[in-house]
Amino acid sequence: MPNHETEHHDYDVIIVGAGGAGLRAAIESTRRGLRTVILTKSLLGKAHTVMAEGGVAAAMGNVYPEDNWKVHFRDTMRGGKMLNNFRMAELHAQESPDRVHELESWGALFDRTSDGRILQRDFGGHRFARLAHVGDRTGLEMIRTLQQKVVSMGVDVIMECKVLRLVHDADGRIAGCLAYLRPGGQFVTISAPAIVLATGGVGKSWKYTSNSWESTGDGHALALWAGAQLIDMECIQFHPTGMVWPLSVRGLLVTEGVRGDGGVLRNSDGDRFMFNYVADMFRAETADSEEEADRWYDDHSAGRRPPELLPRDEVARAINTEVKAGRGTPHGGVYLDIASRRSAEFIRRRLPSMYHQFMELAGVDITREAMEIGPTCHYIMGGVRVDADSTSTCVPGLFAAGEVAGGMHGSNRLGGNSLSDLLVFGRRAGMGASDYVEGGTRAGELDAGAVDTAIDEAVAPFLREQGDSPYEIQHDLQELMQSKVGIIRNGAELAEALTGLDGLAARIANLAVTGPRAYNPGWNLATDLPSMLTVSRCTTLGAINRTESRGGHTREDFPTPDAELGKVNFVHSQPSGGGYREEVKTVPEPIPEVTAELREILEAAT
Ligand code: FUM
Repeated sequence: MPNHETEHHDYDVIIVGAGGAGLRAAIESTRRGLRTVILTKSLLGKAHTVMAEGGVAAAMGNVYPEDNWKVHFRDTMRGGKMLNNFRMAELHAQESPDRVHELESWGALFDRTSDGRILQRDFGGHRFARLAHVGDRTGLEMIRTLQQKVVSMGVDVIMECKVLRLVHDADGRIAGCLAYLRPGGQFVTISAPAIVLATGGVGKSWKYTSNSWESTGDGHALALWAGAQLIDMECIQFHPTGMVWPLSVRGLLVTEGVRGDGGVLRNSDGDRFMFNYVADMFRAETADSEEEADRWYDDHSAGRRPPELLPRDEVARAINTEVKAGRGTPHGGVYLDIASRRSAEFIRRRLPSMYHQFMELAGVDITREAMEIGPTCHYIMGGVRVDADSTSTCVPGLFAAGEVAGGMHGSNRLGGNSLSDLLVFGRRAGMGASDYVEGGTRAGELDAGAVDTAIDEAVAPFLREQGDSPYEIQHDLQELMQSKVGIIRNGAELAEALTGLDGLAARIANLAVTGPRAYNPGWNLATDLPSMLTVSRCTTLGAINRTESRGGHTREDFPTPDAELGKVNFVHSQPSGGGYREEVKTVPEPIPEVTAELREILEAAT
């Protein structure tokens, strides 16, 4: 028993996170009759999943019958610049269509083709129109549907519950976790032999991000501190199109659906500049004139793809270069224009959220004017190292799915592949955790000493009369990561970032907060900072080690891919165990070779 007073619960499966992956995992373990609880530090229904607006990628072939899982697999691997876990990419491409149909059977109302099938739209890097969508609110519809299903199954949900530590038993297996309830500040211990991490991403460590306050890398850090490994944390996706103005909403997502539906990018000279940024590997399939690109929207066999629909890493870098070369907009972005290319009725019907977002936040009518946009930190491809089939980690009883898991997307994710990832691997995580529990593993008692230590650490900021403010540390961390570990990196700045992170670690150890534990946002942020520091350190270490440019990791001092580095993951672990102040070890490990059968698909598909 811990010395500190805690409320206690007991379950078979704990799911941490209530986004798409967490909800889908909970459906599976509940279906199997296991006592399941979802812990969310936010509210049910509010998750970064809603920021995948434009659609869920699945090779259903509703618009282009030629589409199939093999083409989707190939697109995903090429988009990830072959750093992907090939087995995850294979399962994802094969299983996505069933997951979308299942979602429909649970009540999701997708947009329709004229003959009543699920409509699919174009997105960057996908050879065919493949994204099932609900206007530009697809993630929201997915969350609404899964949430309704979870509630109807009677799954327990504890909201505003922040997990501080995963706790082992005496044999090193997962035995449960320690958390606190944000409204009242009480500590809670929850026992379970299996935990599924589905906590999403890390974007709040950067200054300009599409992520909201929840995305502080909690699951990544919890996993590392508990003995699991993280891979390829340097691979961060800067979505090409975030709002740049007004400053109060800088970073807010502008869906790729705008480009999928015909929007084009122009610089301040009016040039459609993306034609100048087509990398060799995409040249054969990319249009080289505006006329050819425009023909493609009507018929994919009549022209080649517009360059605006290259994968996100390519487009974000091009925008960054244009702005740096002085061809940006007054507020430091470029123009995204759909007004001059589609009717007002089309824009309002297909992109209703974008219409309202710009009208209400920026006073811009996107049916008449171009939008000002620029790259925004959106997604991390790196994450917890998992087994593709079961999502298990190297810690017995620990599973991870969705954005917190690494491998699926390699060094760059294609738009729309996140929602399908959540469905495919959320289900597999629920199955993997259920198999583990049904296999008879009963965890021992929670390590009471570990619980007490974590509580002491969490309340320490209340005991200091003087110390650092969590808000100032958060601000300084975001400035540091944005300026030194941003979209374009170099060795000197990365070394400065590492030194800066050491300084921030010392300040986190000296945090001070005032007031009660109940409803205390300053304290809540103080408990997020250790995770933010840990993931930022792993990203920086990965970026220092990966001396090449690949996908979402660009080094100006190593501007091209390196064939040898393309064969390794950078793996992070914490040999001494537990905490943001402990050393992180980073080593390269070979990526398993693609099977002969899949290699044939990669080579044969055109
Ligand atoms: O642009 C978007 O709608 C985002 C989609 C995604 O990240 O998958």
